[in-house]
Amino acid sequence: MATQTQAETFKKLVSHCKEYGYIFQSSEIYDGLSASYDYGPYGVLLKNNIKEYWWKSMVQMHENIVGLDAAILMHPKVWKASGHVDAFNDPMIDNKDSKKRYRADTLIEEHMEKILAKADKEVKKAKKRFGDSFDEKMFRETNPRVQKYVGQAAAINDRFNAAMNAGDLAAMKQLIEDEGIVCPDSGSRNWTDVRQFNLMFGMQFGALASDAEDSTVYLRPETAQGIFVNFLNGQKTTRQKLPFGIAQIGKAFRNEIVARQFIFRMREFEQMEMQFFVRPGEEMKWYDYWKNKRMQWHEAIHPSSKLRFHDHEKLAHYANAAVDVEFEFPFGFRELEGIHSRTDFDLTEHQKLSGKKLQYFDPELKESYVPYVVETSIGLDRMFLAALTNALQDEEVPNAKGGMDTRVVMKLHPVLAPIKVAVLPLVKKGGLPEVARKIFNSLKMVAHCQYDEKDAIGRRYRRQDAIGTPFCVTVDFDTLDDNCVTLRDRDTLEQVRIPIAELEAKITAKLSFTHLMAEE
Ligand code: GAP
Repeated sequence: MATQTQAETFKKLVSHCKEYGYIFQSSEIYDGLSASYDYGPYGVLLKNNIKEYWWKSMVQMHENIVGLDAAILMHPKVWKASGHVDAFNDPMIDNKDSKKRYRADTLIEEHMEKILAKADKEVKKAKKRFGDSFDEKMFRETNPRVQKYVGQAAAINDRFNAAMNAGDLAAMKQLIEDEGIVCPDSGSRNWTDVRQFNLMFGMQFGALASDAEDSTVYLRPETAQGIFVNFLNGQKTTRQKLPFGIAQIGKAFRNEIVARQFIFRMREFEQMEMQFFVRPGEEMKWYDYWKNKRMQWHEAIHPSSKLRFHDHEKLAHYANAAVDVEFEFPFGFRELEGIHSRTDFDLTEHQKLSGKKLQYFDPELKESYVPYVVETSIGLDRMFLAALTNALQDEEVPNAKGGMDTRVVMKLHPVLAPIKVAVLPLVKKGGLPEVARKIFNSLKMVAHCQYDEKDAIGRRYRRQDAIGTPFCVTVDFDTLDDNCVTLRDRDTLEQVRIPIAELEAKITAKLSFTHLMAEE
């Protein structure tokens, strides 16, 4: 099978999502709204399964984590206190020739990636030349060309971090000019100055809205603030002692300057966040705990080779440590989840602006304090994209004529798969549909099932492979005599004959969330 480029793989994934009812462009009949997507019949099921896995693992499995579903619209002062009104900005730059708008930081990061890719290319070439005797580490440390590229990227990175940390927009523009970074669209170097762009969507609230600044209500850019302002409500009503956490899943909105790469960066997306409140001074211990715990959660679903940590060099205004869990998407390793040590910043600021105490009385220390917070924050849509990236495969399989066919198969973990079982009568006659319907009606009580009697059995199997259904149950003429069916496994293609009476137990054993939780 010919190998695909990353771009081809990604294009295929996007069209597969549309063709098989996972994701549609929002408002498609009006030519769509950029960076907005609708989750289709299978997409919504996969999304719900990911939510359930996260919720069970965070809330059900931790007696000291409770849930919340806060309103999307919050008091405007929330965003003043949190720093989002003043500091939730991205540096923006326009190209005067193409009239295209970019994030200045992304242009610089992509430029650095290109330089590092040149170093990787040298390594790849040498690997091919030297074969088994190749010592990659030594080559990277000593080869002058690799050293030159790595040094070049490091120097740019230093200037970039200094400019970002100081909020020095002129220095950022200078870096773009010095490096000769061109507009990806037009190749032009005719840039405007770099400006800050606030990412929050503001709106007028209610019929009496005036133009006054303080009447602006924002669509929340993160779900976390709903948790902070409910910290005492959650703690007191559930009689929790520190350390304890509050978890929630919900929509967030950001007016991204450039929203692209399908559902990776959208203006409306969903987050699964947990704020863990701890004693001051103990935050690094819990930061390490959650860093490992969250990686285990990902590794229960994805191979570890597709996951890595990336420490933040530039910290957000609220953090004293931060790390990303990165996943290898078709366009490279990118952030999937953030784990942040947010200090006491948010609670302290809300305390100041609201005038309400947000403190915990520690019965062991016999003193009150504002807790420190460790946050885990994962984008549901990015997790969805990661799951599909990992699952979608072209695979060579033997056909009935003794040759090979290519099948498109979505090898989603059975616990996440939208449809768990397809029940298929071999043919549409001879009493087989009636038996198959009976099995379907009984299995649908325990799992999402599909009944399908249209087309040849081989085509129906392929259809279920493409959707990601882990099990197919086929009813044939022998079934009428022996009360057995064929159970086909999506991944191994193994077909076993089992009594109808054993189907439910056999299938449900593979679908239980317990498997995933045990792997964490
Ligand atoms: N409360 C902390 C917070 O919001 P973040 O790193 O800005 O931190 C957390 O966002 C996660 O939300 C990211 O790791 C990513 O998975 C997801 N996310 C952020 N912006 C997104 C966007 N525009 N589209 C889709 N997902 C996004």
